[in-house]
Amino acid sequence: MKSYTLITGASGGTGKAIAADRAKSGEHLVLVARSGDKLEALAAELRGAHGVDVQVCPRDLSEPEAAKQVFRFCEERSIGVDRLVNCAGFSVTGGFEQMPEEELVRMSMVNMVAVATLTRLFLPSMLQRRQGVVANIASLGGFQGVPGMACYSATKSFVVTLTEALAGELSGTGVRVFAICPGFIDNDQFYSRAGHDRSRIITPVSSPEVVIRAVRRGLAGNSVLILPTSFDSMMRFTQRFVPRKLVVWLAGLFAGAHEKT
Ligand SMILES: NC(=O)c1ccc[n+]([C@@H]2O[C@H](COP(=O)([O-])OP(=O)(O)OC[C@H]3O[C@@H](n4cnc5c(N)ncnc54)[C@H](OP(=O)(O)O)[C@@H]3O)[C@@H](O)[C@H]2O)c1
Repeated sequence: MKSYTLITGASGGTGKAIAADRAKSGEHLVLVARSGDKLEALAAELRGAHGVDVQVCPRDLSEPEAAKQVFRFCEERSIGVDRLVNCAGFSVTGGFEQMPEEELVRMSMVNMVAVATLTRLFLPSMLQRRQGVVANIASLGGFQGVPGMACYSATKSFVVTLTEALAGELSGTGVRVFAICPGFIDNDQFYSRAGHDRSRIITPVSSPEVVIRAVRRGLAGNSVLILPTSFDSMMRFTQRFVPRKLVVWLAGLFAGAHEKT
């Protein structure tokens, strides 16, 4: 059975950049997102450039059966997933009460349920082989509530907590899990999807390259939570010395996602 890296959210932004980097390292890939045309174009490019096998599995991860369908897609093709990168995710900014219910459900499905379900489905075979890594793309926003991004920050807190607990459960099994917690990344698609005026963000906005380096770090080392930049580490560290209410207010101010900040 060939070893593969499965990447969700690979049709654009950070997931696409991670896919290109993993293919460059010689890893065979399974790419998941809704946009099948973009995945096919990327797959053709990566096969041609790096001679790796790239399988495309277009699915909408907000649909309840999607994670199981992705798992079956791999089973039917005898694809052994040794690295699972849960990168698909999106944000919606503005007052929580104005968030349409369908968006709330969709975000919960993509940012939380799909991450947990895919992990749960692929873990048993990793445990059986005593090898495997799950990389979850969380966010710096997962360390506190962010006014104007209430639901998004809550979903990323779920990912951080799930990752920490799972890392404890997996200790000594040969299988690892880590979460990458970046601050804002330079990616217009993410902000336009979120309705986020990025000119209001007052913290540094990093390039997707910092996340790629963080993935490499996570795959090579033993960290459970990875803060990609020194600014991200500083933000997390200083939380210890600042009253919680102020931490949350500052997070809202820095993000510029809420009218009242
Ligand atoms: N951008 C930032 O500032 C930032 C900061 C911290 C963390 N993050 C996290 O980084 C990850 C990647 O974000 P990004 O910046 O690369 O955003 P992006 O460019 O908008 O990419 C999001 C990816 O998720 C996929 N996706 C969205 N909804 C989906 C669904 N229902 N089913 C399947 N796939 C879906 C999209 O593909 P399709 O549209 O083709 O489905 C796309 O490939 C996310 O988890 C995000 O929360 C982003």
